[in-house]
Amino acid sequence: MSDEIKVPRGLANVVVDSTAIATTGSTGNLLYRGYRAVDLADRKSFEDVAYLIVYGKLPDEAELKAFRNKLFSNMVLDDDTKRIMDILKEKDIMRNLRSITSLIKYRNGDFNEMFIQMEAKLPLIAAYSAHAAYGEHLREPEGEYFAEKFFSLIASPEKKKYWKSLEKLMILYMEHEFNASTFALRVAASTLTDPVSAVTAAMATLKGPLHGGANSEVLSYLSGIKNEEDARNFVEEKLAKKEKIMGFGHRVYKKKDPRAQYVKEELRKIAHDDPKFIAAELVENYMFEKKGLPANVDLFAAVLMDFLGIKEIYNLPVFACSRIFGWNAHYIEQVENNKLIRPAAEYTGPEERDL
Ligand code: COA
Repeated sequence: MSDEIKVPRGLANVVVDSTAIATTGSTGNLLYRGYRAVDLADRKSFEDVAYLIVYGKLPDEAELKAFRNKLFSNMVLDDDTKRIMDILKEKDIMRNLRSITSLIKYRNGDFNEMFIQMEAKLPLIAAYSAHAAYGEHLREPEGEYFAEKFFSLIASPEKKKYWKSLEKLMILYMEHEFNASTFALRVAASTLTDPVSAVTAAMATLKGPLHGGANSEVLSYLSGIKNEEDARNFVEEKLAKKEKIMGFGHRVYKKKDPRAQYVKEELRKIAHDDPKFIAAELVENYMFEKKGLPANVDLFAAVLMDFLGIKEIYNLPVFACSRIFGWNAHYIEQVENNKLIRPAAEYTGPEERDL
């Protein structure tokens, strides 16, 4: 075909559509609706930022109150949903999150309600999955804020005074323009499928080790690193085997991931002598020296969640419970100005032949 356009594999640097939601920006800062994400993490609540991402403006007091009420009044699971998780006893919480979310009941046509249902219930599904599969103690969500409630479900009660650190991480995880899971969601949305189906596609994509799944592998290697020599040996060995080191590299941030730096400084404030934090910095320094690759947000996110007493099984669910608000905004943006996403392929199979 004469009008074919060839683009690099993986669509690296290919602008496939426009978005007004977020940008990784020419300045290297991640912006949400124009505001620096790190400033929002410093000064705003998770719900403020979620509202900004989904509705395009920061809420006033009444809007924020109504948004919280809507979210919190839907923070409940019905018995059928719990029964399914009791039967499945699925140990991979993210797999459960993807499957159970796809079963959420909703009224046809009301997109907003479908999203609120998912956004409010995901933290409960994550906590209940862990209860069903591992016998984790099941707690009621406590507190006045979304992240505080989520913290009470999954983190160590002794670390309660640090719940805002989880909130900051969740704000930074919330949105990242055309990342793989959001793009998957937009492909699904472009067929005009419903939000629950589109979010299921996004969750399936987030789960992969090159996307959200990276943070679960970080802790296991950090626990083996006690000093600079260990860090060097670890990096050298992985690179010699041409293996990727999880928590490093990024398709967009080639010099610095602003989210990683923010979470690192948060850790320095609250956990500067934590052995995994020290190990993470050692690997970060050597990786940069050796390969010029910066740490991505998942390296320090894994350390932060570990410090907060959030078990590794929850790492990816925390990402999903945050990113769903970004997916919500992208779903709306896609369907409001829709064009079916259906690229073409260069055929490399056999020539046409007789059977
Ligand atoms: N460890 C070791 N080497 C890495 C690496 C990592 N984590 N990430 C990238 N590289 C190397 C590649 O091997 C390649 O080296 P080469 O040029 O010598 O062949 C070079 O850096 C470019 O990497 P590439 O995979 O082509 O970049 P990409 O933009 O396609 O990939 C990621 C981006 C995120 C998929 C990739 O960096 C990665 O797999 N990271 C680990 C998973 C992870 O942490 N994901 C979370 C992202 S927030």
